[in-house]
Amino acid sequence: MRIAIFGLGYVGVVNMACFSKLGHTVWGCDVKSQKVDSIKNGISPIHEPGVDELLQQGLASGLVNASTNAKEVLDNADIALICVGTPSAGDGKVNLDYTINTTLDLVDYLKQNDREFTIVYRSTIPPGTIQDNVLSHFENWSGKHKPKVAFLPEFLREGTAVKDFFHCSRIVIGSEGEEPKELKQLLSFDENIPLVFTDYKTAEFVKYVDNAFHAMKIAFVNEIYSLGSSFGIDVLKANDIFLMDTHLNVSKNYLRPGLPFGGSCLPKDLRAIQYFAKSNNVQMPVIGNIINSNTMLLDSMLEKIIAKGAKSVSLYGLTFKSGTDDVRESPMLRLLYALVERGIDVKVFDHDINLTSLRIEHAAVVKHVVSDADQAFSEAEVIIVCKKGFEDYSSSVNKSAYLFNFYSLKNFNLPNPQEKLYS
Ligand SMILES: NC(=O)c1ccc[n+]([C@@H]2O[C@H](COP(=O)([O-])OP(=O)(O)OC[C@H]3O[C@@H](n4cnc5c(N)ncnc54)[C@H](O)[C@@H]3O)[C@@H](O)[C@H]2O)c1
Repeated sequence: MRIAIFGLGYVGVVNMACFSKLGHTVWGCDVKSQKVDSIKNGISPIHEPGVDELLQQGLASGLVNASTNAKEVLDNADIALICVGTPSAGDGKVNLDYTINTTLDLVDYLKQNDREFTIVYRSTIPPGTIQDNVLSHFENWSGKHKPKVAFLPEFLREGTAVKDFFHCSRIVIGSEGEEPKELKQLLSFDENIPLVFTDYKTAEFVKYVDNAFHAMKIAFVNEIYSLGSSFGIDVLKANDIFLMDTHLNVSKNYLRPGLPFGGSCLPKDLRAIQYFAKSNNVQMPVIGNIINSNTMLLDSMLEKIIAKGAKSVSLYGLTFKSGTDDVRESPMLRLLYALVERGIDVKVFDHDINLTSLRIEHAAVVKHVVSDADQAFSEAEVIIVCKKGFEDYSSSVNKSAYLFNFYSLKNFNLPNPQEKLYS
């Protein structure tokens, strides 16, 4: 099939790479020319394991193309996936401007190019968006072929996105009227993955249900960790026992204690859920407090670090989790700002960081980033581990540094299993 992908961020680029791997022709479109140029050169604009290789294979076979020109992209497609950002404001209200602007571009194009076309929304959008904000643009369609509209929530996790794409547990399709045949054909690439057809609103809602549950599991297990530690229990051992019950508990994912959650999805979507609840006058004492629980964990991490009274602190890891270059709403970024504010000399070492985007989004942070482990760890009084792989740099570490391993709480002795003197 011929697919246009609007928005070359984490979702758009992964979809480009994976659909090209399945043999489809994909044309990516972004308003940012550097992202388009990067794809054309076979370099993914986002760091995601496996994506560069798939893009390069797709470029070599002519299946992958990109342009900033929406018309050029649409001329080469019969189906469009909308993967633009849907940021939320401080109060949780979701900004749909990018989604609607892309819709208007498509409407303009399809009015002038009357042919069969399917528009598929992949961005996370509040329940009711397609019904209330999208379909009106297709009413009273004068052309012969009214575009079909579907919603296809994206459940990928950054860092394992390619694997998640090919091995997801279900594919949810929100549509109305006739089953969208083209989409069904596109998504039937593995007979073991069930396709679930439902209405728009349910499909939109399911994405928020997933993210609320993931965030709740992280907040839950971190609270359990604090509680267990206060009893002097080896909570990791207790947690392993808890996780053995795969009958009543859903899965082990998001149920390992460690860092607070961050990233571009969980905090944003949780805020949006709080906003929906307020607007619909629904009480949600459990879900409504997940963000508070997460913030409290970050505050307690900060307190522990500050209590060491160190003048120099090094952070191993700045991205919101391992395996991605994404620093959006990263708890480690907030940690860094809080430490710098207190006059502490902070160094950051993270091989996943994309310095170019950091320069644009967080210019003040760039001067703290160092490029080798010796610079980062040989003189630090306190080292904070926030991602996997720290053991690879053990020869660079100042042996009298105090180490907080918030990534892996393993290998530390009770009673305070999150920390130890590095020796
Ligand atoms: N990042 C994730 O892990 C993830 C997972 C599941 C769902 N989602 C959802 O998917 C959506 C996209 O997320 P993301 O992280 O990929 O966002 P992103 O911010 O990384 O990328 C969005 C891209 O859209 C581009 N864009 C904006 N307007 C455009 C237009 N009119 N035409 C073409 N391009 C345009 C932007 O320049 C940007 O490159 C969001 O709704 C998000 O909530 C994200």
